[in-house]
Amino acid sequence: MPKKTPRSLAANRSRLAHKVSYALRNPARVAPYVRRAARDRWLRFKHPDHVGYYRAVMASDTANNPEAAVGSRSHDRWLALGQMQFDFLKDHGLQPQHRMLDIGCGNLRAGWRFIQYLDSGNYYGIDISPDILISAKKTLTRYELQEKLPHLTLTHDLRLDFLPSGHFDVVHAHSVFSHSPVEVIDECLANVGRILAPRGFFDFTFDRTEGAEHQVLREDFYYRTETLTALAEKHGLVARFMDDWEKLPHGQSKIRVSLADTAAAPPGS
Ligand SMILES: C[S@@+](CC[C@H](N)C(=O)[O-])C[C@H]1O[C@@H](n2cnc3c(N)ncnc32)[C@H](O)[C@@H]1O
Repeated sequence: MPKKTPRSLAANRSRLAHKVSYALRNPARVAPYVRRAARDRWLRFKHPDHVGYYRAVMASDTANNPEAAVGSRSHDRWLALGQMQFDFLKDHGLQPQHRMLDIGCGNLRAGWRFIQYLDSGNYYGIDISPDILISAKKTLTRYELQEKLPHLTLTHDLRLDFLPSGHFDVVHAHSVFSHSPVEVIDECLANVGRILAPRGFFDFTFDRTEGAEHQVLREDFYYRTETLTALAEKHGLVARFMDDWEKLPHGQSKIRVSLADTAAAPPGS
């Protein structure tokens, strides 16, 4: 995934001028984009609500290639992106005894590494896509992690009402809010505080813009940092932009939210 540049952070990908200039620089990508736009238009017509629509996108993409459906062009990239998520979280507070909720766990690109590292039963993955969860079970089997007994649950919303209060040390959502309209993010931030342990934290990535907020095909959403930190603060959470994540070769940015400022002490300390 490309690193962020001042030009990419200022771009508005929904504007015609941007699309034309991109098409001229990348002619081979025009036909796949047109096919995707036509498919997405049909799926939006059939599923007017965002989650229903995105679930249908995931069904279509997963049928072609589950690793590409979670955003990795090759198996090597799938492995590398999982490793990047795992290494970052381990270096920033994750410990084996922690209880972790992975929102939008996909086919366990990073999840299998978390499951392997955490004590048995401490990983909880949720996703809106039944197709990707079936692929997740295959990943679990491939890495022989049955004894770790992770939870994998289908969800339709992010009210998190089926989960216990004060339970999770770490909540994680990688490349999920980059596919979410602001109402979905708001719902998550309104409810995540209830399930966080007192010193727990919630790390999420997002597609950052420093220009106008915009979306492409209702698949990719670009937010300003201050929009998301203000949303978290509205729900009584403390939000911190993760500067360390910016050093990694990844196109998204990361925010950590918690019930109180955890900069000084990781959960469980
Ligand atoms: C780009 S994939 C990333 C998967 C995983 N986090 C990873 O990094 O490999 C996004 C995942 O989030 C899921 N997703 C999208 N919107 C969601 C929502 N509102 N609630 C839960 N999962 C969602 C998708 O079905 C998909 O599996």
